[in-house]
Amino acid sequence: MAWKKQLALPDGKVVALRDLSRKDSPKELADFINSFLKEKAYLRINRKISVAEEKAWIRSRLKGMKKGNIIHLHLECKGKLVGVVDAERGEYKHHGNVFLGITILPPFRSKGLGEFALRELIARAKSEMKPKNIYLTVYTDNKKAIRLYRKLGFVRHHVLKNWINHYGRYLDEEFYILKR
Ligand SMILES: CC(C)(COP(=O)(O)OP(=O)(O)OC[C@H]1O[C@@H](n2cnc3c(N)ncnc32)[C@H](O)[C@@H]1OP(=O)(O)O)[C@@H](O)C(=O)NCCC(=O)NCCS
Repeated sequence: MAWKKQLALPDGKVVALRDLSRKDSPKELADFINSFLKEKAYLRINRKISVAEEKAWIRSRLKGMKKGNIIHLHLECKGKLVGVVDAERGEYKHHGNVFLGITILPPFRSKGLGEFALRELIARAKSEMKPKNIYLTVYTDNKKAIRLYRKLGFVRHHVLKNWINHYGRYLDEEFYILKR
């Protein structure tokens, strides 16, 4: 049976965490990721992603999942995509380093979903990828994300000063490594 975990939110809604599937809609995923542009979220993208790009991206993610190099999970509420968490191995000599990412739609934040999804992702990454290091990066200004990462046992390793051009303002990027 396919892997699936669920979390009941304080308002009674139930959110499911499950692997990306080839049946997932590139349009829904494009709309999801593009919605973060409007709020100028602290994410890497700085332009709209097309449905065609998203289609190619899903294909490459599925390929990476099959090879054991990627874990890509969707958070779903009533069949709608509300968040994504993923873990990806580095290439070649970085094979032992696994990089994590997380994005959750605004109405589903501050309900414990981020913590739930990252704990499940980390447990799977540890057991399936056997990494030497689990790490992530975050902009210094993203205080909420940093609080969550610290709670989960991530420790700041280094900072790249003035590294990210965030809508015309250069921000620092911090690297966090999981210590336990
Ligand atoms: C950063 C992000 C992933 C956090 O996800 P989240 O689902 O809001 O995280 P959680 O709900 O687990 O924890 C966040 C807060 O909710 C609180 N919370 C947890 N469960 C709660 C509950 N049942 N009721 C009320 N608050 C709750 C936590 O205590 C925490 O509070 P704090 O920020 O004051 O410490 C989310 O804000 C996001 O997707 N942001 C935009 C994209 C982004 O920045 N991604 C990270 C890039 S590095």
